[in-house]
Order: sequence, then structure tokens, then C-alpha cells
Amino acid sequence: MGTRLEGKVALVTGGARGMGEAEARRFCAEGAKVVIADVLDDIGQTVAADLGADAAYVHLDVSSEDDWATAVAATVERFGAPTVLVNNAGIARYETIDRMPKEEVVAHLSVNVVGPWLGIKSVFEPMRRAGGGSIINIGSTNSVRGAAGATAYATSKHAVAGLTKSAAVELGPFGIRVNMVLPGGVATPMIADAAPWFGPAPLDNSPTEWSLPLKRWGMPEDIAAMVLFLASDESAYSTGAEFVVDGGMTADHPFKPAAAWVEHREALLAESRD
Ligand SMILES: NC(=O)c1ccc[n+]([C@@H]2O[C@H](COP(=O)([O-])OP(=O)(O)OC[C@H]3O[C@@H](n4cnc5c(N)ncnc54)[C@H](O)[C@@H]3O)[C@@H](O)[C@H]2O)c1
Repeated sequence: MGTRLEGKVALVTGGARGMGEAEARRFCAEGAKVVIADVLDDIGQTVAADLGADAAYVHLDVSSEDDWATAVAATVERFGAPTVLVNNAGIARYETIDRMPKEEVVAHLSVNVVGPWLGIKSVFEPMRRAGGGSIINIGSTNSVRGAAGATAYATSKHAVAGLTKSAAVELGPFGIRVNMVLPGGVATPMIADAAPWFGPAPLDNSPTEWSLPLKRWGMPEDIAAMVLFLASDESAYSTGAEFVVDGGMTADHPFKPAAAWVEHREALLAESRD
């Protein structure tokens, strides 16, 4: 049991599964009181019960301002004012522009952009009165990159960058930091659910076929480690910033790798295997 979040009260949206669940578990292990907020009530309640008395579950559709009022009030009543907010809940559905109904774009903006905006608005007053806090918005590599089929998702995740920077400027004077994490390729139900777009078993890619420098899917715990750092006072001088956790995905350009580099790399890898 660590103490990096001792005394913190955290609200984690989308905390029932995937990386939100990993964040909730890591936060509790580091001494925080954690409220898991989601629309998957049964799963969220099970995770909270598993974490014990330092965790609670609340139903929250992040696109509903009324739900936010209820969730923040429940957090204050159970554990005190939230001093950490993780705007993690998100949706990702892929389709080409010509086949995507307008409602899909609106849904992505509603959950992925209006949701975090409402979250920041809803925690501002209790966080300010508590003396400050840390807000972490979960963006994506699609906050800085586009992709075919991702016009709704990437548009929404680019908007999270603007929200993060503007909120950081506005809330900094009140001791509230706002940062963004950009995960890339993390093995969660979201990726599994994207099978209709990416193929029958998107998580089964053989790492050796990846151009990704670290040659593996990210795990929810990889992201939780960065979110923990940003939630803690260790990141006290960071705000309005973007923290990439993507196995090197956005570091490379999309050209075919140079033959000389591939030849040398493979020789060294063969030597490492010997
Ligand atoms: N998995 C990846 O590769 C990846 C990469 C980059 C960014 N992200 C982002 O990370 C975050 C978490 O994604 P994940 O991969 O764990 O996905 P996930 O689908 O496994 O989990 C998302 C959670 O958000 C919840 N949620 C969805 N709509 C909601 C709403 N309206 N109100 C409240 N909760 C809602 C879901 O019920 C679920 O529990 C998302 O913002 C996602 O866009 C994921």
C-alpha cells in the first residue's frame, strides 16, 4: 500500500472497466478515496465493492449536467470535496464519413467533449474551496493524429486538447491543474468492441508485425501509472500539458522504414536472442 495519494478524494469517470478501472484500483492502492462513476452500474458497483470502504460507485452519464450535480454531491457527502477528477469516460465508434449518421458525431462530442467540460464545471467550486486539485483529461493519439473512420472520434479528442489548455489557464490561479494524457493502443474492451472496424480480433496482432517501437499493446496499468503521477503532488508544476503514453506510436512518421535500419535492427535483435 503506497501513500502517493494520501488525503486525496478522486472521481473517475468511466471507472467501471478498462483504463478507468485500472486508475481507480491504482488510486486506492496509493491511499486515495475513490468514487467510480459510470453508466455500467452492475460492473461499477462490483469494482467499488471489491475495493472496499475507500471506494464508492455512483451512476453518471457524463453528458448529463444533472447527473454531474448528483455525482459530485454524493462524492462530497461520502468522502469530502473531490481534489482529483479523471475525465476518462469515452466512446469510440468508427465509420467512414459517407456512411456515418450525423447523430454519431453529436454523440462523440457529447460524451468525449461536453462530458469532460461538464465535469470541470461541476467540480470547480468544491475543488476551489478545498484549496485546489488536479484534473486529468484522457485524450488519445487521435488528439494529434487523424485516422480513416475516426472523424467523429478524432475530432472529439482534438477538442479535448483545447479544453485542457483553456481550463488550465482559467483554473490555475485557484490551484487547480488541468492536464491531458494521450494513450495509444491500449488493450481494453473499447478496442475489442472495435472489431467490426479493425477486423475480427484486433487485440491478437502479432507484435513482430507492428511498426510500433515498443511492439506491444499498452495495458491499462501503463496509463494508470501516468494518471497517478498527474493526480499526485509529484506533478505540482505541470498544467495545460500533454503526456503521451503510446509505445512510441506518434514518434515515428508513416513512411516505410529505411532498409538499412531494418537490416541492422534485425541483426541486433537476432544477436539479442542468441
Ligand atoms: N483503448 C485505447 O486504445 C484508447 C486509446 C486512446 C484513448 N482512449 C481513451 O481512454 C478512455 C478510456 O477508454 P477505454 O479504452 O478504457 O474504454 P472502455 O470502453 O473499456 O471504457 C470506457 C468506459 O467509459 C464508460 N462510458 C461510456 N460512455 C459513458 C457516459 N456517457 N457516461 C459515463 N461513462 C461512460 C463506459 O461504460 C466504460 O466503462 C476513453 O476516453 C478513450 O477514448 C482509449
